[in-house]
Amino acid sequence: MNNAVCRMAGCEFPLFAFSHCRDVVVAVSKAGGFGVLGATRFTPDQLEEELAWIDAHIDGAPYGVDVLVPEIVDPRVAEFQDNAQRAAAISEQHRQFTAELLGQYGVDVSPQDVVRYEGRAGITPENGYAQMEVAFRHPIKLIANALGIAPPKMIEEGKKRGVPVAALVGAKEHALRQAAAGVDIIVAQGTEAGGHCGEVSTLVLIPEVVRALKGAGHNIPVLAAGGIMTGAQMAGMMAAGAQGAWTGSVWLATTESETSEAFRDKMVAARSRDTVRSRSRTGKPARQLKTAWHEAWDSAQGPGPLPMPLMGMVSEPAFQRIEKSVVNGNEAARDLVSYFVGQGVGLVDQVRSAKGVVQDFREEFIEAVAELNGMLG
Ligand SMILES: Cc1cc2nc3c(=O)[nH]c(=O)nc-3n(C[C@H](O)[C@H](O)[C@H](O)COP(=O)(O)O)c2cc1C
Repeated sequence: MNNAVCRMAGCEFPLFAFSHCRDVVVAVSKAGGFGVLGATRFTPDQLEEELAWIDAHIDGAPYGVDVLVPEIVDPRVAEFQDNAQRAAAISEQHRQFTAELLGQYGVDVSPQDVVRYEGRAGITPENGYAQMEVAFRHPIKLIANALGIAPPKMIEEGKKRGVPVAALVGAKEHALRQAAAGVDIIVAQGTEAGGHCGEVSTLVLIPEVVRALKGAGHNIPVLAAGGIMTGAQMAGMMAAGAQGAWTGSVWLATTESETSEAFRDKMVAARSRDTVRSRSRTGKPARQLKTAWHEAWDSAQGPGPLPMPLMGMVSEPAFQRIEKSVVNGNEAARDLVSYFVGQGVGLVDQVRSAKGVVQDFREEFIEAVAELNGMLG
């Protein structure tokens, strides 16, 4: 395919795959798509290792990195300098609530051990900047940012190095602000998406963003994100004005993905209505598979979500314990197993290889376009 996004990113087929798993990134890029490694889970040193591994295995195919530099830091956590200070601000009530909830499902943890942060990067501006610096030391062909306007430092550095900067947005107004700030690609992400998301559906958001950017005189390509699990959906979004698809959830059901067996089983069984947009994992609204965790945290009896990044300092260790407990044979803990995933989970009916997913997307895309063309005749 030949469009502006393919030329900017150097890929053959504009299927962008967001993943925290380096194997997915490599498999997608080698198959002609474009893998983007999500950096948030890694410390800068870990990210350096992951990217060195990708460089050694990707055979020169193009890839990108996604970092999170939150634009708005909650005033309740703004003054903290490090994770020890942040941990100290997590109330006894939140620790107790988490320990009790896990205990009900046979996952034993004392309230004092609920919060863990050693070796964790966490979603803070300073971690985002440190990850960005690591990313720019590698031959990346794209850097993406979410949770606010791409910082000037990222845009400057991207321009200097010829690396396009992409920004995720969930609303037309945000797209216009990003364009004014100088980003090169807008990823318009609908509320269907896994992870942090806004409230507008992909179907409405794409034409809205495309029209707004054009109207304001910005010649910036738009990638469609949120709910895209097939090549036919990708073709539909490209017919609506996008230049490609930016996907996340579909890669979670691949053999290479970082997801556990317990979660993959749940994905195959889940319906599109089984996700929830909740603050109970990161502190900001993020779509996840709905489980007993969300029912408890989002109920009136819950202590309420903590601000980012404190919520993640409670939830991430809890979910690690839950997964471990399942692996050790605790069936009850399966009820709590969850991860970020979009409404497209209802379309997952099997686990495939990442390369197989790219091939399926290509075939479905071609078939959908041919079918529509046929209707014109
Ligand atoms: C497991 C998971 C983690 C995510 N983490 C991030 C992230 O750290 N940064 C980011 O920009 N987007 C993140 N996203 C959102 C994706 O970049 C993408 O926009 C979204 O997955 C697209 O919608 P879909 O899940 O319906 O394909 C995540 C998505 C998933 C499924």
